[in-house]
Amino acid sequence: MDISTTEARPDTLMDVIRLRRSVRTYTDQPIPEEVLRSIGSTVEKAAAAWGMRNARLIIVREPGEVRRLRRAVFSGVLGKINPWILTTRAHAFIAACGYPSSTASSDDRAQYLAQAAMLMEVAVLAAAEHGLGTCWLGGFGEAGVKRELSITDDLRVVAVSPLGYPSERIRRESNAYMKEGRAALRRMELRELVTMMEEA
Ligand SMILES: Cc1cc2nc3c(=O)[nH]c(=O)nc-3n(C[C@H](O)[C@H](O)[C@H](O)COP(=O)(O)O)c2cc1C
Repeated sequence: MDISTTEARPDTLMDVIRLRRSVRTYTDQPIPEEVLRSIGSTVEKAAAAWGMRNARLIIVREPGEVRRLRRAVFSGVLGKINPWILTTRAHAFIAACGYPSSTASSDDRAQYLAQAAMLMEVAVLAAAEHGLGTCWLGGFGEAGVKRELSITDDLRVVAVSPLGYPSERIRRESNAYMKEGRAALRRMELRELVTMMEEA
C-alpha cells in the first residue's frame, strides 16, 4: 500500500512541531534525492540567516557508508545505549558538527554546541515536514563516527540521527494525531519548560 497518498501532511510549522517525535523503527523505503536536497537546502538557508560559521551538517546516504556508520554510532561506551541502531532500516544519517576553536572568546565556547544543535533541529523539522523520521542521538561513539566520516580533529560531532521513513505503525499513529490536531506524544507541561516572568 502506498501510505503517502493516504497521509495527512503537516501544513504549518506548528503542525510539523506537533507531529515530530523520536522515531526508532523505520521502513526500508528509500529517500528520494530531491527530499534529501530539500532538507539540506532548508538547513543552509537557516544557517545563512543566522550567519553561522561554527557548525555544519553532514548527510550520509550511500548504503555502504550508512551500514558502516551504524556500527560506528554503536561504538564506544556511549554508543552502547543505542543497540537498536545496529539493525535500523533507516536509509540515511545526519550528523551535526561544530568547530570549538573557531569561537572568538572563552565566553563563546558553547557557541558551537548551540549552533550545531540549531542545525540539527532545523534538519529534524524539515525531515518531519517530508514525512521522515529522526531521533536525536547523544549516545554515539564520537571517535568511531569521526573516523568513519573522515572528520578532522578540529571538528566535534555534537549529535547524530538516523533519517528514514517511520514504520507503518508510527505513520498510522501520526496520521491519527494529525487529524485530531494533537501532538504526536504526551508533552511536558508548559510550566515545566517555560517560565513566564511576572509583569512588573
Ligand atoms: C540531546 C539529545 C540526545 C538524545 N539522545 C538520545 C539517544 O542517545 N538515544 C535515544 O534513543 N534517544 C535520544 N534522544 C531522544 C529523546 O529520548 C527524546 O527526544 C525524548 O524522549 C522526547 O521524545 P520525543 O523526541 O519523541 O518528543 C535524545 C534527545 C536529545 C534532545
